[in-house]
Amino acid sequence: MTVVPDGLCSVAEVDNLDKLLDKPPKLRVNIDRQRSCDERSLSSELVTNGHADAVHSPPGTARMSGLDAPGAPFAAGIDSHPYVVEAWAALRHSMVYFRGQPVGTIAASDNTEENLNYDQVFVRDFIPSGLAFLMHKEPEVVKNFILKTLRLQSWEKKIDRFHLGEGVMPASFKVLHDPVRNYETLMADFGESAIGRVAPVDSGFWWIILLRAYTKSTGDTSLAELPECQKGMRLILSLCLSEGFDTFPTLLCADGCCMIDRRMGVYGYPIEIQALFFMALRCALVLLKQDEEGKEFMERIVKRLHALSYHMRSYFWLDLKQLNDIYRYKTEEYSHTAVNKFNVMPDSLPEWIFDFMPSRGGYFIGNVSPARMDFRWFCLGNCVAILSSLATPEQSTAIMDLIEARWEELVGEMPLKVCYPAIESHEWKIITGCDPKNTRWSYHNGGSWPVLLWLLTAACIKTGRPHIARRAVELAESRLIKDSWPEYYDGKLGRYVGKQARKHQTWSVAGYLVAKLMLEDPSYLGMVALEEDRHVKPVLKRSNSWTC
Ligand code: GLC
Repeated sequence: MTVVPDGLCSVAEVDNLDKLLDKPPKLRVNIDRQRSCDERSLSSELVTNGHADAVHSPPGTARMSGLDAPGAPFAAGIDSHPYVVEAWAALRHSMVYFRGQPVGTIAASDNTEENLNYDQVFVRDFIPSGLAFLMHKEPEVVKNFILKTLRLQSWEKKIDRFHLGEGVMPASFKVLHDPVRNYETLMADFGESAIGRVAPVDSGFWWIILLRAYTKSTGDTSLAELPECQKGMRLILSLCLSEGFDTFPTLLCADGCCMIDRRMGVYGYPIEIQALFFMALRCALVLLKQDEEGKEFMERIVKRLHALSYHMRSYFWLDLKQLNDIYRYKTEEYSHTAVNKFNVMPDSLPEWIFDFMPSRGGYFIGNVSPARMDFRWFCLGNCVAILSSLATPEQSTAIMDLIEARWEELVGEMPLKVCYPAIESHEWKIITGCDPKNTRWSYHNGGSWPVLLWLLTAACIKTGRPHIARRAVELAESRLIKDSWPEYYDGKLGRYVGKQARKHQTWSVAGYLVAKLMLEDPSYLGMVALEEDRHVKPVLKRSNSWTC
């Protein structure tokens, strides 16, 4: 239940896709006003899925009743918490300046390892940093970051003799100092220098999501309204809404085009990208101006959101009932009456899935394409599905049920597995191309990434289960400090500091901080969460077990 204070309008009113399209132009002006009202009220908006304890009060004062219990570790205010103090110091130390202005945070400040590109500001890595600064009422670095990356987007991007799409946002950038001229310039990487030349498809989506978080938390709509920001958004949208040969509304991608930026069998339609795509589309809908160009995009977005949510909720969703259905699938069906639409062979079901699937719970699987379902569980995609309301409230609950039921596998001793399970032996050779960084239970192959704590925490709060996040944060904090903020941990339980993990990894620091700040003040959730749009409910076809 979302409680809206008098005089403020609810996110649901504003984010209602159908309304937006169906309203005649005159009424749209009103919607626009409501939207700015929404943007102003954002910091006091708490979005939960049926969580009765939700209260609305300004940031810094809001609490969830469960968190106020005597002895609760976050009740006393966290600014003086020793781990938090240390984390803020580390985050500030990672700040990157360009011509005197803060523009981002460095990926890692670890001088003991070869730098590679860890001395750069990564777009995806900056998201938790940016959120922490927004929550701390220090929006300047976020604004600068948004504007600087926008300038980089307009660069001419080339790999060898090939020009990249105009809307591509950089994976990372770096400040170069010319000591002779005493002059600073920026150098960006759009994938043309990245290991494996992987494309950062997620960067543009994160950029839009951060722009909304900035607007929501500051109430300053002027940044998003700048003609260059509107154009930047439209360029990103043009790239991912363009027509092609697709038969699905999901976005077709190359391997390693997101946080998992190496060959890991995430090519095709990876859940991480689909969830970010959905979230970015919803954020863009709130941020786009209703001028002629903006409106045209809004209409395309609304159509795509309908198709995408239907597709994801129907075909990516897996629970016990659905698993059993796939197990009994007939194959080689032709025509629109086919039940097994993608011709998935029941024999391709991996052994582990039968034990892993709890009686209660479910999740969005890793990938769906012709004759292929990647049954692996991916953390980021499932959390973003909850935050963006790509998952229905029932699905969101089921995802949390699964995390609780499979705590040892997914959380273990160090939150949180990037994906589960790891791939091994022959499969590892084929899928990773014998990648020694991605051996089983390491790095992107089932490694545990502290940065994911913020996403877990946000998802927990949205589903009304902050206690789960608290448990995870408690598990992580003392080790993170002791181990100097590693990038990732290895092993089935995440017990060991990762083989090649960087220390002083900024997003490990920022992920922890954002988790703490959100537990302290759950109203911050509004920056990174969108309420369900009741008009994008799916028509249930194959499995309806997730509605119960
Ligand atoms: C690694 C990770 C990637 C991250 C980058 C900087 O390449 O795979 O997700 O953005 O390091 O931390």
